[in-house]
Amino acid sequence: MTRPLLLGVNIDHAATLRQARYRGVHAGPHAEPDPVAFAREALAAGADGITVHLREDRRHIQEEDVLALARLPGVRLNLEMACMPWMTDFARRLRPAAICLVPESREEVTTEGGLDVLGQADRVRATVAALREVGSEVSLFIGADAPTIAAAHATGAPVVELHTGAFANASGPAAAAELARLHAGCVQAHGLGLVVNAGHGINYDNLPAILTLPHLHELNIGHAIVSRALFTGARAAVAEMKRLMGNRA
Ligand code: PXP
Repeated sequence: MTRPLLLGVNIDHAATLRQARYRGVHAGPHAEPDPVAFAREALAAGADGITVHLREDRRHIQEEDVLALARLPGVRLNLEMACMPWMTDFARRLRPAAICLVPESREEVTTEGGLDVLGQADRVRATVAALREVGSEVSLFIGADAPTIAAAHATGAPVVELHTGAFANASGPAAAAELARLHAGCVQAHGLGLVVNAGHGINYDNLPAILTLPHLHELNIGHAIVSRALFTGARAAVAEMKRLMGNRA
């Protein structure tokens, strides 16, 4: 029997909306929308985890958000971060349940848009070791190409998140080819003993195709859920995504 597919709700864009008005403004607790309140709603609707990306330019999530989210009772927090010493120090102090290493700058990105694990092997390996040491589960956000998956496995990370952006941005035969590439990536990663997650650009319409991929453990979905929440509220947006994810064969 397949285990239920988990949903990590990425709430970055709740913070994007807040920063559109309040960047550089001291608005205190009245700055809206509050990403922590969004996270509470998502958890109440059945989200299995909350994901945030602390970016170097702080364009959405701020350190204070991460600290407040970590205090939410029962939250499984997944912190996305780049392989940078100050972020590694921050994460080692925080010790979130999960950490996903993502590229921050152009030089760290593969052609598929994921982390350049082949080109940055030493840095990635050292970061994985430093974060695993404090008990966080570490995943690497990578393109679904065979050499990168093999390199990700060699870093000692137990989890990969396959980048679904190229699939989400394609249509027709190109989308079918991207889906086939993701399928092969899932099989390879699972065969190596890696836990396989997926994310980027997944929405209510392309989800059925994503659900055909084998061995998936968790999907990280942000923009589509936050966008729908503007119309339906966060609870209904998350609950609907969870309901659709239950349709996995
Ligand atoms: N997974 C990772 C590693 C991400 O960086 C992001 C945000 O870009 C997502 C998933 C969520 O992507 P989206 O907002 O397109 O659903």
